Amino acid sequence: MTTALADLDWPLRTDRLELRPARSEDADAVWPWYRLPEVQEWTTTLSTSVEEHQQWWEDTLGTSVVGLLEGRIVAAGKIDRQDAWSQADMARQARGQQAELGWVLDPGVQGRGLGTEFAAALLDLAVDGLGVRRVEASCFADNLASRRVMEKIGMRCEGVFVEESLHRSGRWLDGMTFAILAREHRSTDT
Ligand SMILES: CC(C)(COP(=O)(O)OP(=O)(O)OC[C@H]1O[C@@H](n2cnc3c(N)ncnc32)[C@H](O)[C@@H]1OP(=O)(O)O)[C@@H](O)C(=O)NCCC(=O)NCCS
Repeated sequence: MTTALADLDWPLRTDRLELRPARSEDADAVWPWYRLPEVQEWTTTLSTSVEEHQQWWEDTLGTSVVGLLEGRIVAAGKIDRQDAWSQADMARQARGQQAELGWVLDPGVQGRGLGTEFAAALLDLAVDGLGVRRVEASCFADNLASRRVMEKIGMRCEGVFVEESLHRSGRWLDGMTFAILAREHRSTDT
């Protein structure tokens, strides 16, 4: 049987953060900072009202994790188990073999290493918790902070995709995908 986020032992504690699966009622706590322009600059989903945000939050609960700092939610992340590409006759064996990560941090606590700490915990959860064999994360190439987080947690840039991503400003921007194999991640564990 495939392990889901809900099956793992919670909460997960890092040096400063406590991680647990997102709950419906967390949407309200996240909204005041999630809606800020500096966050929305890079997020996939732009909610224009708290009601829309709540609906989107509900729709993504199965793949969402929050991070609490001193009891307050300051981070929202995604660990989305996905099928690996395969030849059609191998599709069953490729099912659920990888995960895509995502992260957003309250700007009020950015720049203190917490984004890296949170992302590293998501990577651990994907590899050691869900047991996937490969983990990916993507961003706009202009998103230097997120790129640096990916590098700092050991992910490798595997592709720069020229003007492949349409930003909500109307500009076509380069996209980047970073990845790491589970065995590579485990070999860096101390
Ligand atoms: C990406 C994000 C989670 C990083 O959070 P954070 O807590 O500030 O990250 P950290 O403090 O761990 O810093 C990580 C690295 O990024 C660097 N960094 C942060 N902001 C940067 C910027 N604007 N330009 C260049 N580097 C930056 C830091 O200096 C640090 O690198 P260093 O240790 O080599 O100095 C946060 O900026 C964020 O939520 N951004 C908006 C949402 C977003 O972009 N999500 C990802 C979508 S793909």
